[in-house]
Amino acid sequence: MTIKILVSGAVLLLSAMQAAQAEPAEVAHGRQRAIEYCSGCHQVTHQQPQPAAVPNPDEMVQVAAPSFAAISVKYKGHEKDLRAFIEAPLHPMKEQEFPDHDLDAIIAYIKATKKNW
Ligand code: HEC
Repeated sequence: MTIKILVSGAVLLLSAMQAAQAEPAEVAHGRQRAIEYCSGCHQVTHQQPQPAAVPNPDEMVQVAAPSFAAISVKYKGHEKDLRAFIEAPLHPMKEQEFPDHDLDAIIAYIKATKKNW
């Protein structure tokens, strides 16, 4: 009985470890790029505190950027819209230039975000 519990505990632990390691390289790359490009305004990882709101001088308001977890939920199944927004963002988010593979990785990371948090 005790051995059975120990064995199933070990199996659970092993599968949890495998799940943690199974993160695709593109998702890990996307997290790095998101930290570089997006974390000034967005909360891009669970550990990161919410950054300060961004001033929008046109309307004299402060706009809080949504967390990547919220973006992941909002754009679930709408990857094209997500890509389009990042490529041509609404003010006060600024347009940024980066290579296509970085954008692909950031999108892969956003899609995987909810699972990682
Ligand atoms: C200069 C600050 C800033 C940076 C840097 C920035 N964003 Fe934003 N982002 C914002 C703000 C502010 C909003 C909210 C805009 C609004 O609601 O009017 C926003 C909104 C968004 C949205 C739309 C969310 C929605 O509700 O539809 C997405 C997607 C997004 N950002 C992704 C990104 C990604 C990916 C990066 C990095 C490549 C990034 N942002 C970098 C400030 C920023």
